[in-house]
Amino acid sequence: MNIVRIGVVGAGQMGNGIAQVAAAAGFDVTVTDIAQGALDKGLGTVKNSLGRLVKKGTIDEAAAAGIVSRIRWGTDTALHEDGDLVIEAATENVALKYKIFEDLSQKVRKSSLLATNTSSISVTAIAAHSDRPGRVMGMHFMNPVPLMQLVELIRGMATTDETYDAVKAAAEKMGKTTTLSRDIPGFIANRILMPYINEAVQALYEGIGTREDIDTTMKLGTNVPMGPLTLADFIGLDTCLAIMEVLHGGLGDSKYRPSPLLRKYVEAGWLGRKSGRGFYTYEAR
Ligand code: CAA
Repeated sequence: MNIVRIGVVGAGQMGNGIAQVAAAAGFDVTVTDIAQGALDKGLGTVKNSLGRLVKKGTIDEAAAAGIVSRIRWGTDTALHEDGDLVIEAATENVALKYKIFEDLSQKVRKSSLLATNTSSISVTAIAAHSDRPGRVMGMHFMNPVPLMQLVELIRGMATTDETYDAVKAAAEKMGKTTTLSRDIPGFIANRILMPYINEAVQALYEGIGTREDIDTTMKLGTNVPMGPLTLADFIGLDTCLAIMEVLHGGLGDSKYRPSPLLRKYVEAGWLGRKSGRGFYTYEAR
């Protein structure tokens, strides 16, 4: 299985990052989103990220221009028809992901591979909403995609060895290191990361410390690049809540109960960096 063309469904923070690293690795990339505004924003984010890499001397101006030129943007998922591997990177919502896989089954060539960038939802269930469960994989990228080394791979119940090998090779061509997780809610990364973040929110709720004390304790005390509340704002509080709901519902253990404070922030629309306010406030971007 030779992967040359990669499709990405969703131009948001994960989708545009995946498009960038795929184009940087020499793949021909097509990105679709339902809203033109999201595509424009996605292109802006890619240009901004490439600008930072040029400034740092990681790549030169010509390479950055080449990467931009290898990405096509559009609102019609039929643009993925000839994609060899189409990666869904939409919002972490079960019904939406099922709908996208039903749609891609109609639009994408039968021999092509489909992947989901879900961070917690069952890959087996998503695959069952496609016409080719054997050719579906979980491909979990980390944010910010251009900087983070890892892609966590998840095989669904039906995923074939050929699919796994081809997707692993594509991730490695993008310069990433892969790990393999069983298809259990949250996989490896979020099974461990999200309860940690949720506990930090609960510590704030219980008044154990201020947001600064909680973040500084973990940042300086455990050498992580961001404190857990800053990281939650960076990921998006709606995404953190959605993942906790999947862990809680899927594993049925009360230890995964989302903090009531996390729920309140999401109800208020305080979703973190992307909405300008979460545990901290951010300037409009
Ligand atoms: N593209 C290109 N370059 C970027 C970039 C981007 N998107 N974002 C940051 N950079 C560059 C900056 O230009 C900067 O370059 P210099 O060092 O040359 O100045 C460098 O990266 C560091 O950036 P900053 O100085 O702005 O900030 P920082 O030192 O805090 O680093 C960070 C930023 C890399 C994001 C770092 O804070 C970090 O690693 N944070 C943790 C990220 C993390 O845990 N991600 C996983 C989240 S979980 C997930 O994604 C999965 C899920 O399912 C929820």
